[in-house]
Amino acid sequence: MKTVKECLLERTSVRRYEREAIPAETMEFIYKAIQNTPTSYNGQQFSVIDIDDQNLKEQLYELTNQKQLKTCNRLLIFLSDYNKISLLAQKKGLEMPAFTDTMDGVTIGIIDASLAMMSAVVAAQAAGLGSNCVGYLRTVDPAKLAQMLKLPKGVFVVCGLALGIPREQPDLKPKQPTSLIFSKNEYRQDRDNMVKELEEYDEVVKHYNATRAGGTSTNDWVSHILDYYDHAMHYRILQYLKDQGYDIKW
Ligand SMILES: Cc1cc2nc3c(=O)[nH]c(=O)nc-3n(C[C@H](O)[C@H](O)[C@H](O)COP(=O)(O)O)c2cc1C
Repeated sequence: MKTVKECLLERTSVRRYEREAIPAETMEFIYKAIQNTPTSYNGQQFSVIDIDDQNLKEQLYELTNQKQLKTCNRLLIFLSDYNKISLLAQKKGLEMPAFTDTMDGVTIGIIDASLAMMSAVVAAQAAGLGSNCVGYLRTVDPAKLAQMLKLPKGVFVVCGLALGIPREQPDLKPKQPTSLIFSKNEYRQDRDNMVKELEEYDEVVKHYNATRAGGTSTNDWVSHILDYYDHAMHYRILQYLKDQGYDIKW
């Protein structure tokens, strides 16, 4: 097992994997790490679909064009899940609050599922696996994915996580400097310095992209991310949530 420091500071997304299967005991460790995730009130409003069916992985690749989905050994789909608690509430004759109609309810499910995914990322890293979060599975065709995975009402995809024995070791990507991430006791007030630091970071990313191993580009940070957000404007997630039994009103 790698040390916690190695797991956290040397992690990079890995998108190329060996054909070899992940040992069963490693998957068991990842399952346990996911199971012990901190969740809001210990409510555990998440669940995970573990895909090892090559056929299904290929279908998901066809849908997304993300190659790592068919070459990974296991694909974990992290779901926000109010189905489980609704089932028991119904069985015990308890009234289910309209939690699926609130932003808070939606947020809790997303946080629970995201933290569970991060538990898996760290456990996978510790066990020497490579992992890659795949948000595209949430956005590419939500209705189709819900149908393929037979999701009941109250359940929606938050993110996928491809896992496998690594076939590459990508360079660490430059992240924002700690000065842009942390401030003491209140939000930073020195706007001009922030802009300067952001410009510097933008240049660092540009340089990294122009010189990195395994495919260079002319991308900076800000335009590239804004371009992505521009595409995201076209996702219709609210409608998808409605289809999954959510009706956010407040
Ligand atoms: C919520 C989320 C969604 C992501 N979606 C994708 C994706 O659809 N495809 C992909 O190749 N990488 C995806 N990534 C990986 C990011 O591109 C990657 O984490 C980021 O570029 C930073 O690189 P690093 O993980 O190597 O530090 C996703 C990461 C997160 C956290």
